Amino acid sequence: MPHLVASSVEARLSRDADLVTVALDELLPRADGPETRLMEAMRYAALAPGKRLRPFFALETGRMFDLDERSVLRVACAVECIHAYSLIHDDLPAMDDDDLRRGRPTTHKAYDEATAILAGDALQSVAFEILGHPDTCDDAVIRAELVVKLARAAGAQGMCGGQMIDLLGVNDDLGTVARMQRMKTGALIAASFELPAALAGLNEVEHEGLMGFAQDIGLAYQIVDDLLDLEGDEADMGKRIGKDAEAGKANFVTLLGAGAARQRLNIIAQQVKVHLEPFGPAADFLRETADFVISRRA
Ligand code: IPE
Ligand code: IPE
Ligand code: MG
Ligand code: MG
Ligand code: MG
Repeated sequence: MPHLVASSVEARLSRDADLVTVALDELLPRADGPETRLMEAMRYAALAPGKRLRPFFALETGRMFDLDERSVLRVACAVECIHAYSLIHDDLPAMDDDDLRRGRPTTHKAYDEATAILAGDALQSVAFEILGHPDTCDDAVIRAELVVKLARAAGAQGMCGGQMIDLLGVNDDLGTVARMQRMKTGALIAASFELPAALAGLNEVEHEGLMGFAQDIGLAYQIVDDLLDLEGDEADMGKRIGKDAEAGKANFVTLLGAGAARQRLNIIAQQVKVHLEPFGPAADFLRETADFVISRRA
């Protein structure tokens, strides 16, 4: 049974990933001048074969609320642009110093460090340009809400703040680790649910339920990433493994060991679906998605 569940999520994920790659290709800028190098680097990073899980979360949330798929696809692309930028910068020598991403040389290896920095910066700008465009939503107030929510998730209170804590290495207690994970990974994953929710206009109970689910999934996602850094397969993952222990990173796995980290993951797995109760059977696919995220091997 779990296999059947996983395969149906996998099929939908792969179809959505293709949709997102095509849409990103259209949304990313092109030019003829010398700045073409920057645009090529942006495309190199963003169009590389990522899992597209954040866009998938956004699209599935949109489907749950019967939203216009074109709007949600734009929102999904905006979130993926921020994610792609975060990966380019995460891999830089000044950060995690990685040479392999999505099965290919990292952007600073394929181009150079300055181009990689600029490609990350410009992908971030593209994300907000997409959200601010009337094609995303014809209500300017909602568009502003989308921009503010994504900015918060990406910035110092979210992804960038979490990356700062990660790099400082001051997170040797579990509470700080959990907070770091929520910020560096959880915030952007939560935004994948929160932005479509803003398009849908949820009531308070629904909003609270969806955000609780999103936060638990975000935390679980990074614990799985940290477990796979220890136990995963480099070819499946498309990135180097064994880096966290080598770099002295503090996370649930390096602090507690894989067994205890997996126990925490199992606790989250048990509680995560409770948040979806306000949605009844309409959220069944999100429930299956949670199982898939927690049991992923790549
Ligand atoms: C990797 O994200 C970085 C983390 C936040 C764990 P993903 O595992 O979603 O990477 P891609 O997008 O599939 O390459
Ligand atoms: C990165 O976490 C989170 C980001 C905000 C990009 P990691 O540093 O563990 O991600 P990987 O393992 O390099 O993909
Ligand atoms: Mg990192
Ligand atoms: Mg890294
Ligand atoms: Mg990692």
